[in-house]
Amino acid sequence: MKLLHIDSSVLGPHSVSRQVSAAIVDRLRKATPSLEIVYRDLAMTPLAHLSGPHLAAAQGAAPEADLQHDLAAGLAVLEEFLAADIVVLGAPMYNFTIPSQLKAWIDRILVAGKTFKYSERGAQGLAGNKRVVVAISRGGFYGAGTPAAVGEHLETYLRWVFGFIGVTNLEFISADGIQVGPEHREKALAGALQAATSLDAA
Ligand SMILES: Cc1cc2nc3c(=O)[nH]c(=O)nc-3n(C[C@H](O)[C@H](O)[C@H](O)COP(=O)(O)O)c2cc1C
Repeated sequence: MKLLHIDSSVLGPHSVSRQVSAAIVDRLRKATPSLEIVYRDLAMTPLAHLSGPHLAAAQGAAPEADLQHDLAAGLAVLEEFLAADIVVLGAPMYNFTIPSQLKAWIDRILVAGKTFKYSERGAQGLAGNKRVVVAISRGGFYGAGTPAAVGEHLETYLRWVFGFIGVTNLEFISADGIQVGPEHREKALAGALQAATSLDAA
């Protein structure tokens, strides 16, 4: 069984989502020692944003030499995602949504014919065979009924994206209010780390 572990925070060792995603992987690894784990750090090794030449190459145009390396990287992340049984994703909130590095990754995995297709019944997900566990960290609070709820475009966005490609086995562990103060940060982090230890085995 293969697990793909992805981080996208730019805050390195200070990152909350990185600590939580690591705890999730640790829990799943301990429960299933035979798990084959692949790690990808989207902040350390960012993918380029999609451009016109990327899309032209996808339509069959011969890519320029300097694009070839990035096209190969894009194909590699797609293959990695398709091969994974479990995906653990560290996803911090930056300006109300995912980091742009994570968006660049999503742009490489939402590929018609690979992870979804269009049919007479509309879009149909093709990646429903995966379990996805997302570690979210947010500076504030965005729960239902709060004034900021309408500004939440991180969890809502990821729910839509993974649902679009057919993933129904989708779990979120959240550390919220990280910027409220040091005490609250510790409490939120401890709660998320504790939740990670209670996840079902792989
Ligand atoms: C560039 C940047 C933008 C941020 N934007 C938001 C935001 O829009 N809303 C929010 O609640 N917190 C925001 N925060 C706070 C982070 O969500 C919070 O610090 C979280 O822990 C980040 O996850 P990380 O520690 O894994 O990077 C932002 C932080 C940074 C660095």
